[in-house]
Amino acid sequence: MTKLDSVGYGVATGKIILMGEHAVVYGEPAIALPFPAVRINAKVEKIAQSIVELDCYFYQGPLTEAPQQLTNLITAIKESLAVLQQPQQGFKLSITSTVPAERGMGSSAAVAVATIRALFSYFKQPLADSVLLELTNQAEKIAHGNPSGLDAAMTSGSVPLYYVKNQPFAPISLNLKAYLIVADTGITGQTKKAVADVAALLESHPQEIGDKIVTLGNLVKQSKHAIEKNNPVLLGGYMNQAQQILVDLTVSSPEIDLLVAAANQAGALGAKLTGGGRGGCLVALATTKSAAEQIEAALIEAGATITWIYQIGEK
Ligand code: MEV
Repeated sequence: MTKLDSVGYGVATGKIILMGEHAVVYGEPAIALPFPAVRINAKVEKIAQSIVELDCYFYQGPLTEAPQQLTNLITAIKESLAVLQQPQQGFKLSITSTVPAERGMGSSAAVAVATIRALFSYFKQPLADSVLLELTNQAEKIAHGNPSGLDAAMTSGSVPLYYVKNQPFAPISLNLKAYLIVADTGITGQTKKAVADVAALLESHPQEIGDKIVTLGNLVKQSKHAIEKNNPVLLGGYMNQAQQILVDLTVSSPEIDLLVAAANQAGALGAKLTGGGRGGCLVALATTKSAAEQIEAALIEAGATITWIYQIGEK
């Protein structure tokens, strides 16, 4: 029998969708990158009691009494234990995170990834990428309703992807000398509701909304070419066009619109929401560090609660 005197650890990073959110649910491509500036750490350790104890920002106590809000995490734990053929007892799971929750950075998928990794590490079992992805997607179905699988792919992986639902992962080299300025509106996004609302809009206006989704997909394809040609000006223009479509799809918010305008006024080549929208984070693009800092200052001035500057491409 395996002696469980050690501790299991698991880590996951946040993610940024550069282009293609929402349309990716309908089979259009998306470009996304892991965002290691924010991460989740999970730790599993043995306890004497015959319960599973949880310790995270939202809740401390027995798993059996965890709030509804944590159903995706509970699913990740239960499904992992089923695969591991281990009983639901005898350990404590502690989670610490710098991924802002419900801000479009993939926090729900990242929590699942870190937890699954920590459980497999604790029970000293190898974890195949395919198993990690499958378990994370099961948890994501609870969190998001109808996930494209992009968040699970990004938070469990380490390279940027040109992602198409149900297709093998295609790594993309971000051959672009540019900076991303990422800013948090401080407002909780509502990915599940936003995804459901786009589905309802598509059902009521199939032609008009269907066209917008295809246009978003085309913008992603053009963005891929802009990246390959190291043309941030073109990419910025596509980001602005994508943002306008996301507004039309009702997934932006007044706070995002305000910050997008502030970024563009401060000289961004383009700016758009990232992730599910209705709050959460946005990304803006600049070619130099000083331009990025100027945009960052404008975003803070306009109300962004947290900002990051991320250098893409050549370091
Ligand atoms: C959420 O991070 C991205 C969405 O496209 C939903 C999904 O892909 O599952 C809005």
